[in-house]
Order: sequence, then C-alpha cells, then structure tokens
Amino acid sequence: MLDRVVAGIVPPKHHIALRSEAGDLRYEECLTRAGFDGPYTIAYHERRPHEHRLAEAAHGFALPVAAPARPLAKRHYRSQDLPRRGGPAVDCRVPLLFNDDVVIGLVQPDAADPVYFANADADELFFVVHGGGVLRTMLGDLRFEQDDYVVIPKGLFYRFLPDAAPQRWLSIEAADIHLPRKWRNEVGQLRMDAPYSHRDFRRPTFVGPLDEGIRALVVKRGGAFHGFTLERSPLDVVGWDGAVYPFAFPILRFQARVGLVHLPPDWHGTFAARGALVCSFVPRPTDFHPEAIPCPYPHASVDCDEFLFYCRGNFTSRRGVGPGSISHHPAGVPHGPHPGAYEASLGARETSELAVMLDTTRPLSATAAALAVEDPGYQDSFIAGS
Ligand SMILES: [Fe+2]
Repeated sequence: MLDRVVAGIVPPKHHIALRSEAGDLRYEECLTRAGFDGPYTIAYHERRPHEHRLAEAAHGFALPVAAPARPLAKRHYRSQDLPRRGGPAVDCRVPLLFNDDVVIGLVQPDAADPVYFANADADELFFVVHGGGVLRTMLGDLRFEQDDYVVIPKGLFYRFLPDAAPQRWLSIEAADIHLPRKWRNEVGQLRMDAPYSHRDFRRPTFVGPLDEGIRALVVKRGGAFHGFTLERSPLDVVGWDGAVYPFAFPILRFQARVGLVHLPPDWHGTFAARGALVCSFVPRPTDFHPEAIPCPYPHASVDCDEFLFYCRGNFTSRRGVGPGSISHHPAGVPHGPHPGAYEASLGARETSELAVMLDTTRPLSATAAALAVEDPGYQDSFIAGS
C-alpha cells in the first residue's frame, strides 16, 4: 500500500448510489485487507462483480515442492541456466526456493495471459530482470520495464501482457508486502529521509470499462488453482478510490545510503513482508572513512536465511557469480566475502553492483528446479587456496 488514489467516476461518499447517465446503478466491489481494518479500495462496476460459474482451472503455475533434505551449506544456483519455459506468466512460473512465508521463483513468459488470474494466497512482487510489458487490472494498466519492481496486492485479478522482447522476472509470493514502516511518518507519508519518495512509484493508468472477450478467471487459494467462468468482462469499472492497487518501482530510483563505514543491509530495505525483508543493492559510492572496508564483513545473521539475486555489475565480494546467479546463505553458519575480496576492497570508492536480496526468518528449501542449476563447488569456494 502506497497512498490513496482516485480514478474515473466515483460518488461523493462511499456506499451511496452511483448511476450512469441513463440511470443504471453501479455496483461497488470493496477489496479490503485485514478483514475490514486495513487498507481498502472500492471499485465501481457497471454490472454485479460477483457472478462466477464454477469451471475447470485450465491454467496455473508449478507449486513448490522441496527437494530431499540436504546438509546445511552455502548454495549457488545459476538461474541463468534454467531452461526457458515459455507460455503465459500464469503457467510458466518456476519456484526455486521457498518456506511457509515466501515462494521465490523465475518467470520467463513469451505470451499474454489467456485468463484473468488472482492470487488469493499472497501478495506478489516481481522484479523485471529483462523485458517489460503491461499489467492489466480492473484499476487500470500498469506499464513496467526492465529494472522495475512490480507489486500486485493479494486477491486482485490481473493479466500480464509481456512485450515481444525476451522476458526474465524474479517472482516473490509473500504475505503482506509493504514498504517498511520506518520509512513513513505518522500520517503515512514517506519520510524525507526514506530511500524513495511517493514520486518514485508508478500507479496504474485508469482505462475505464474494457471488454477483452476473456471470461475465464483462475484463482489461487489454499495452494491450489480454482477455475471460474464470468458472465461478462470483469474490467467494467468506471472508477475507483483506495489504497489497494498494483504499482511499479524502478530499482534505480532507490536512494542508497552510504556511511562513514559499512552500513547493514536493512538500510537497503525496500519492501517488507511477513517473515521477509527485500533489499535493493544499487550502484553507489562506498563508505568514506579513509580506512573503511567497503566489502561486506563476514557475519552470522543468526535469525535469517539470506537470498541474493545478482542482476548485473561487479560483485566485489564474490567470485564465480554472474547475472542471474542466486546465492543462498542459510542461518547457522557464517558467511562473507570470497578469499581476497575483503582485502581487495580497501580503497574502493564505488560499487556497480545491482542485486535484490531477501532476508527470511524461516529456513528456505530448494526445489528440484533449483538443484538442476546448482553450482556444486560453491561451498568450498570460500576456502582460501581452493
Ligand atoms: Fe550476508
């Protein structure tokens, strides 16, 4: 949730009659969070929005299944080596690492979604590594590009329409994805010292009633996909008002903080969720103490597993990783720079790294798809001389 938006035609007060010029009554759809206590959006439909016939769920992506348990170890998965599984986004998401709070996967669609899809299990966060396109919802079209985060609230149906260019998106399902509360003041405004401002986010462009001829809806709920047939286009919205809507945030608009000495990762916190913090590492100057060690220090963050997706740039602390690499450093054993990297970073004045990190409070499990692209030498690569 970002801030309140009003688009299209809405009545002067909620829960009062809104009519067309011909006198037809519009129908509210209230999308509410935390029961009726949290943020909400009210959309105004031309027709009753709750007419659904049961149908087969002909679409849906792979659900995460844990590979057999393995020893605790530092892991490196080369997502860049995953076979490109095309098709629409609703079908081609490949889960890689997960726990009870989050599912992290890769999506490489090459077709528009043929159905509307709503994830009623979780909020969704995508990071567009390559590609771009349009996210279509009843609240409008949201254009997204390479290097954008795209946040989609739980329960809002949507369709992805990717551009013709090759697509590669990181996907994160998680409960209650939000901006860290420490970046807000007491009225919910983003603080001046937050790493982004309200102007850095893109909201949907309201389109108005639209009929794409699609009457199929797939809903994910309880870890299963459920199909429905709609009586009419669900994009028959004439206006809306609220704080629940999808938005995009370009990672390069993140205002990284730099300190006299190395700052901990939560200063890079971009999104929070239940059991997870998403951090953005963007190109930036490094610490400015004359004897600062810019490279991250070896550390044991004993309450978190650390997931890191390397987008591009020069990763001063790591060897053998490249764009698309995923490192998973589990809680329980310390981790840190590769041999020589700590020492070599002395005197560095800037870093060109671009990476997305997740700290998770529950241990992450890997799927068979992740194991298929694992770098077997990663654990030992931290031993000097190996
Ligand atoms: Fe770390």
